[in-house]
Amino acid sequence: MSHKRVAILISGGGSNMVTLVKSMTAQHAARPVLVLSNNANAKGLERARALGVATEIVDHRPFKGDRTAFEAALQSTLEGAQADIICLAGFMRILTPDFTNTWRGRMLNIHPSLLPKYRGLHTHARAIAAGEGEHGCTVHEVTGELDDGPVLGQARVPIMPDDTPETLAGRVLEMEHQLYPAVLERFAAGDKTPVHLP
Ligand code: GRF
Repeated sequence: MSHKRVAILISGGGSNMVTLVKSMTAQHAARPVLVLSNNANAKGLERARALGVATEIVDHRPFKGDRTAFEAALQSTLEGAQADIICLAGFMRILTPDFTNTWRGRMLNIHPSLLPKYRGLHTHARAIAAGEGEHGCTVHEVTGELDDGPVLGQARVPIMPDDTPETLAGRVLEMEHQLYPAVLERFAAGDKTPVHLP
């Protein structure tokens, strides 16, 4: 059986990327073939190299806001790696509907909230400010809408009375590291049954 070829897109530390790469072992239907970052200084790049995964940098800055040109460079790099699936993991660039349509049904993202609540940024602070009793993370298929698309998995985390955005984010990140690999294993095997944790 030929394995699905997974490209992981990052912009920062890549802790989700590390857990995804480590999860693709013998019986897994997928293999990591590329870690791609828009940020040449992303710490995740050296972590990917240490794990033996090929890396590429497509810096968005030279494109000066020309999203189409930037995405053409992304696409060319992804085709070079013959990627079948994209996992966005802390990738901090907005993708146009053209790109998301090209990868429709083959691109996943992890977002640190219980979507559809708290799309966008600063989700932990917003959930605390709103007096929520719980928060969490969602893995979803990427569509043209930001932080939207069919949910493939969610993990819930209680919000404690003394939580700060930082302490909450730390607990959510731990659940991200469990959720994303569980979703990818199913997704790569063609199973879209949502994962719910705990
Ligand atoms: C995580 O909080 C994730 O939910 C969000 O960006 C962060 C990525 O962290 N998409 P890392 O780079 O995977 O450590």
